[in-house]
This record gives sequence, structure tokens and C-alpha cells, in this order.
Amino acid sequence: MGAWCVIHLRFEAALEDAFSAILEDLGSAGWESQPEPPRDVRVLAYWREPAPTGLIEQLRTRLETLAARMGAPAPAPPAAAAVPEEDWEASWRRHFGIERPVPGLVVHPSWISYEVRPEETAIVIDPKMAFGVGSHATTQLCLRLIQGACEGKRVLDVGTGTGILSIAAARWGACEVVAVEHDFVAVANALENVAANAAGERVRIIEGTVEDAPGVFDLAVANLLSSELIPVVGALTERLSLGGLLVVSGILTSEREAVASLLRSEGFVIETSEISGQWAALVARRAQTSITNPS
Ligand SMILES: C[S@@+](CC[C@H](N)C(=O)[O-])C[C@H]1O[C@@H](n2cnc3c(N)ncnc32)[C@H](O)[C@@H]1O
Repeated sequence: MGAWCVIHLRFEAALEDAFSAILEDLGSAGWESQPEPPRDVRVLAYWREPAPTGLIEQLRTRLETLAARMGAPAPAPPAAAAVPEEDWEASWRRHFGIERPVPGLVVHPSWISYEVRPEETAIVIDPKMAFGVGSHATTQLCLRLIQGACEGKRVLDVGTGTGILSIAAARWGACEVVAVEHDFVAVANALENVAANAAGERVRIIEGTVEDAPGVFDLAVANLLSSELIPVVGALTERLSLGGLLVVSGILTSEREAVASLLRSEGFVIETSEISGQWAALVARRAQTSITNPS
């Protein structure tokens, strides 16, 4: 049996962005895709063995639900095969290169050396089993929206994955960053990346969720699916100072209004919204005065 389980998927290309969030949610260590003209993509998604129980069935159900929701044709059923470790490692590394997710920021894996120019900030991210190398639209939206907002701030990063947003926030002048992540595998990776960037003095990684973050923050960033974000909005609000800024990404454009109105009901004012492909991000400011129940 191979050390990795690879699942073959094929579906309409328009679903790819949204489906990548599902792969991430189901704990895929990574995936690669190739266009399958005229309208499809073929995706190979990887999990370390033993793969989660019922994985194929979950993939099939979620892919079918997504296709139905987006009015796409029914996708081909997923199929699994095992691949040897060496093939995986070689193929995995081939898929990571130098990323420039926002102007002035370079993200590269440790196995590619990069000579930093004076006007650039470079960070090293070895992705392993966690999400966040800077290539995904949702990460790029977060980086773009926090880039000018970190100086001197206490920052909370919810769902840090590789640690990319926390490390970038520290480089952009945050005085302290607390990152929470509920997946222990991602936590291990984030800790390695924080160490590789000598960012440990400012960035603290906590295995847990929003409730585990101590203190009050000036800026919070959360690149989470709406289904993951909505349950933690109340706790996030409590941890933001009045006038503090919340950046949320990972929201499908079709869900943007629902998330915006939830934030308004929690006392936020929506300042900006940006879209990249099927993904939306919102910048919301916690109102200066807390909203109290009139009764
Ligand atoms: C889409 S990834 C974002 C990674 C990285 N922040 C980025 O922007 O590229 C979402 C991460 O959030 C984690 N996560 C999801 N819900 C969470 C929650 N309620 N508390 C802590 N971590 C959570 C997932 O395990 C995953 O690593």
C-alpha cells in the first residue's frame, strides 16, 4: 500500500475554486489540476494514508451538492488509488514555487532560495499538510486587506494554516500576533514556518479556536469558509476592541450578503468588500459604541 492516497476527480472547471475549499475542509494535503477541454478539469487530490473513513462518499456528496447549487452538470464519481511516497514527494515539490501574492511580498518554500530585493519582504513557507502558500485567491485577499493595517497592532489570525498571514502581519509591523488553528497537523506546520522566519518573538501559535485567544485585538483576520466563520463570529466580536478591524475571506460571492448582514447585526460597519473569482472578502469595523438591547 502506498503512503499516500490520491483521489481522481473530474468536474466542470467553474466549480474548481469552490471545490478547493471542500478539499481543504476534508483535510487534503494538496491537489493538482489539469484542464480537460472543453469545460472540465481533472483533479488529483492527496491524503496521507490512512485516508479519512468515508472520504470518497463525502467527496461524492459534497461535489454533487456543489454542482447542483451552481447549476453545473453532475460530476464524475471520485475514484481512489494509492501512490508510492517518492512519487508524491517529487510531485508535491514540483507544485510549489515562488509566489508574489501581493506587491512587495515574496513567499517561497525553503528548498528554493530567493535573493530578496531591498523593496521586498520575503517569507519562507513549507506547506506540508496545511493550507496557505499565497497562491489561493482567499489568502491573497486577506494579505491585500491587512497589508497596510498591521503597524503597531495586536493581531488575531483565526485558522492560520501554514501561518502565512501571521508571519506576514509580523513582518508588516504588528506588535503581537496570536494565531489559532484547530487542526494539530497545521499547528505543527505553522510552528515550523514561524521558526523558519525567526518570527517567534511576535507570533504565538495556539492549537484551538477563537475562544482560546487571550486578550483583546485591534485587528482580526479569518480566512474561513462561511460555514466555519458564522459559528465563531460572536466570539470574534468579543475579542475585537471597539473600533477594531475584522477582515474575513473565504466567502463565496453568493454568500457575501448573508455574512455582511450577520456582521452588521453584531455591530460592525462594512468598510470594503473585494472579490476575486468566486471569492469575496469583507473589511468590517466594530462600531465605537457597543450596540445594546433597547429593552
Ligand atoms: C482556508 S485555510 C486558511 C489558511 C491561511 N490562514 C490562509 O489564509 O491561507 C483555513 C484554516 O482554518 C482552520 N480552521 C477552520 N475553522 C477553524 C476554527 N473555528 N478555529 C480554528 N481554526 C479553524 C482550518 O483547519 C484551516 O487550516
